[in-house]
Amino acid sequence: MATVISNERLTDGVYHLRVEGNYGGTMGQFYMLRAWGAYPLLSRPLSIHQVNDNGVEFLYHVVGEGTKILAELEPGAALELEGPFGNGFPAVEGKVALIGGGIGIAPLYYSAQELPQSDIYLGFSREPFRVEAFRPLAAELTVNVGGLVLDSVDFTSYDHIFVCGPQPMLKAAQQKSIAAEAAGKRPNVYLSLENRMACGIGACLVCSVSCRDGQRKACADGPVFLAEEVVFHD
Ligand SMILES: Cc1cc2nc3c(=O)[nH]c(=O)nc-3n(C[C@H](O)[C@H](O)[C@H](O)COP(=O)(O)OP(=O)(O)OC[C@H]3O[C@@H](n4cnc5c(N)ncnc54)[C@H](O)[C@@H]3O)c2cc1C
Ligand code: FES
Repeated sequence: MATVISNERLTDGVYHLRVEGNYGGTMGQFYMLRAWGAYPLLSRPLSIHQVNDNGVEFLYHVVGEGTKILAELEPGAALELEGPFGNGFPAVEGKVALIGGGIGIAPLYYSAQELPQSDIYLGFSREPFRVEAFRPLAAELTVNVGGLVLDSVDFTSYDHIFVCGPQPMLKAAQQKSIAAEAAGKRPNVYLSLENRMACGIGACLVCSVSCRDGQRKACADGPVFLAEEVVFHD
């Protein structure tokens, strides 16, 4: 059992959860969280927002039963954490852009700490959150509210790009990656696919991802995939 240090509401429906303990994990990996008994049946996956000697942190959006229960946790409350799971983002060198949309900024904070001096692009449909935490970690920070943050990014300027956000954003990043290749320089573009999950450990196929070489599992083979591997369906 893990213990909640704090569970701060940042803006409407968005919370920052800090959990005490000795946890590991690399950027882009996730934990399965559970703070309830039999219902809901399944634990819920959340990306590592930050992990250090004090514990592990998560940034989450309340969308249903599980996250609603998480939002009610008070300091000192107990919860179950399993993980870390997934492949995560690779350790890279060179010029890096980190691009997050909405709650998709969650895994990019740890990435920003691991890859200091990256350019960071954060997009929000409504009120921004955690922007000031990112600022000191960024070479350049671009924040877009209500528009398309990807429009600000020149993909040909980077060696590596990490993207996490809603599916239309991931698909648009894939298209920009193809356009960059046509323009003579294609960066390695890594997409974090936060598909619906059940078991979280590769046993149930709920999180299936269509890839050029067949079906893969977001939980075990991902959640991070190279943009050119993924086949998006509308
Ligand atoms: C690898 C991974 C990492 C994730 N990291 C984060 C994170 O850091 N922060 C965060 O807020 N969320 C993250 N998610 C999404 C999070 O797991 C879901 O929002 C959560 O499980 C919903 O649980 P719930 O019981 O609150 O909602 P449910 O009652 O299960 O669902 C409520 C609504 O949300 C939709 N929904 C549920 N899961 C997803 C999903 N994965 N993608 C899109 N829609 C969904 C359902 O279709 C339904 O409409 C991640 C998902 C994965 C797979
Ligand atoms: S969630 Fe069960 S195989 Fe991925």
